[in-house]
Amino acid sequence: MPEASKAIGTAPGKAILCGEHAVVYGRPAIAIPVTQVRAEAIVRQDPAGDGVHVLAEDIGAEIDVDTAPEDDPLAVAVRLALAELGVPRPQGWRISLRSTIPIASGMGSGAAVSVALIRALARAAGHELPTERVSQLAFEVERIHHGTPSGVDNTVVAYEQPVYFVRGQPPIPLQIGARMTLIIADTGIRSPTRETVAAVRERWQADRRRYERIFDEIGELVDAVRVAIEGGHIDAIGPLLNRNHELLSLLDVSCPALDRLVDAARAHGALGAKLIGGGRGGNMIALAPSERVERIAEALRTAGAARVVITEVRPGAEG
Ligand code: PMV
Repeated sequence: MPEASKAIGTAPGKAILCGEHAVVYGRPAIAIPVTQVRAEAIVRQDPAGDGVHVLAEDIGAEIDVDTAPEDDPLAVAVRLALAELGVPRPQGWRISLRSTIPIASGMGSGAAVSVALIRALARAAGHELPTERVSQLAFEVERIHHGTPSGVDNTVVAYEQPVYFVRGQPPIPLQIGARMTLIIADTGIRSPTRETVAAVRERWQADRRRYERIFDEIGELVDAVRVAIEGGHIDAIGPLLNRNHELLSLLDVSCPALDRLVDAARAHGALGAKLIGGGRGGNMIALAPSERVERIAEALRTAGAARVVITEVRPGAEG
């Protein structure tokens, strides 16, 4: 990389509109990019420096990729990317990492950081990796965050478009029939996805019949949401999201703070609302009629939301 130049990679946050947890067991999920929050990685050349260092500005951490623990997710992302790019030991690469995506809260922060890092490193090495490959490398890193990830996070974050996703299959970009306004509210409770995924697995192991039935119903409602999204039947989506929240509660991944926000959104005119991502904290999402967006956002803040993000999914945005 030329000394004075810098290489930048970015990636958005994401929300799982429906299908989380069941997606780990082979059912479909629908995920959307949330471009209002982003991760950004910048690689600079330090002529006096050695090795590769990552400075994670938000958490004030600095890691030396050569000496970082084997399973450090940032170091793993860097090592995988460098091996892929055929530049195993660059010297004096300093990577600054910044992200406005809340950590451990169901918005894909880990996957977005990996994708941003991998893209920045590829550009620093003078390559542009295909999106599919970026997504696969980020998936390898996700294994450390999640244990048994489905791959939905790295997929939607790398492709940056709404996707219908089934584990192990190429993602299907969704055609959007009508504009949807979504409000995402954070409980402020950090809840690692790895733990909720493990908790669901324990329940499933103890009573497979019961949990397979729940996963089946989630899969069916995801297919119904897809039909409604593609047909532009926004009103049909709300009740399906509500039912998805109930089914996630049966998996025991909701919590009082999430239920409070979901109830507040519904009481103030949301068409539907549910928790998103791993659950037991993190974020919820509400589908809002455009004239009620402000009212619902205000109600969510009053009900204790630590942060509210308003995002849109629009026809044509699927690329
Ligand atoms: O908590 P998040 O946004 O990382 O989403 C996790 C989604 C799960 O379905 C719970 C796990 C997965 O790997 O798909």
